[in-house]
Amino acid sequence: MKIFARAPGKVIITGEHFVVHGSLALAAAIDKGVLVEAEAFEDIEIISKTFGSFSSKNGKVPPFFEPTLEAIRATLKFIGEKKGVKLIIDSNLPISSGLGSSSAIAVATVAATASALNHKLSLEEIVDLAMVSERITHGKPSGIDVNVAVYGGVILYKIGEKPKQIKLNEDIDFLLCCSGIKHRTFEMVSKFSEMKESYPNLFSSLVFSSNYFTKMAARALINKDLTTLGSIMNFFHIVLSRFGVSIKELDNIIEKALEAGCIGAKLTGAGGGGCIIALPKSGESSIVANRLKKEGIDTSIVKLPLEGVKVWQEKS
Ligand code: MEV
Repeated sequence: MKIFARAPGKVIITGEHFVVHGSLALAAAIDKGVLVEAEAFEDIEIISKTFGSFSSKNGKVPPFFEPTLEAIRATLKFIGEKKGVKLIIDSNLPISSGLGSSSAIAVATVAATASALNHKLSLEEIVDLAMVSERITHGKPSGIDVNVAVYGGVILYKIGEKPKQIKLNEDIDFLLCCSGIKHRTFEMVSKFSEMKESYPNLFSSLVFSSNYFTKMAARALINKDLTTLGSIMNFFHIVLSRFGVSIKELDNIIEKALEAGCIGAKLTGAGGGGCIIALPKSGESSIVANRLKKEGIDTSIVKLPLEGVKVWQEKS
């Protein structure tokens, strides 16, 4: 029996980095993601369409496969299975670009592994098992990327709390513009945290502000109040830059997005490379996206909301 599981990548609309320190953050699933095909097998075999393959028979684990392998092992242990699985991983998410590629791999892997062995996991169980993999990749992640990949849609997330789904009154388009520059999330997380040592009071006030503005951003998103949402996004970008997690390439793309007619724009995810999101005026996403593409900027339209992890069986 062949099982397929698909999990989406994500954009963070507000609150990245601050979320690691206890702020709420607002994030959404995107229509790029990871597809995992799985079947029961005697060992564990992982084939990545991009990064080659690994078999548990062959001993040494290449670093790319280690988080995935540990997520599989944790899943097998949790469901009490002695058998293994063979997985084929296919992703159209760029890695190390702030779009939640490692989380989407982990979530689709866990869901596909359990299903291929006839076990149904709850969404909470998928989150917990995928976090095994994320801790290997990122150290101490907040868990926001995994929660978006599992629940999909638009979520308000705070460490230690169940994510709250945001129901939009109308569809909203964002633009996603990627620099093609790769980053390491854990390095950016530790850079961001430097200010905590030097200016602890300013730091905790900004975590409070992030929480406050994220709640406002969620309300603005629900009511399609683009002026408020765009204003909050612009402020977040400048604050994140002050923390050293933007780079000039991202600032330049943001400048172009605003010049092309967007109301707001900010980096999304860990920064240090990766992508920005920009908010076009209502009905203008295609026009503005084309203007940015003409400038040579890798731009796509993200239509919200989109679904979370999905598992299905191959029709025979
Ligand atoms: C990474 O997608 C988001 C960060 O806030 C890190 C985290 O939440 O674990 C930068």
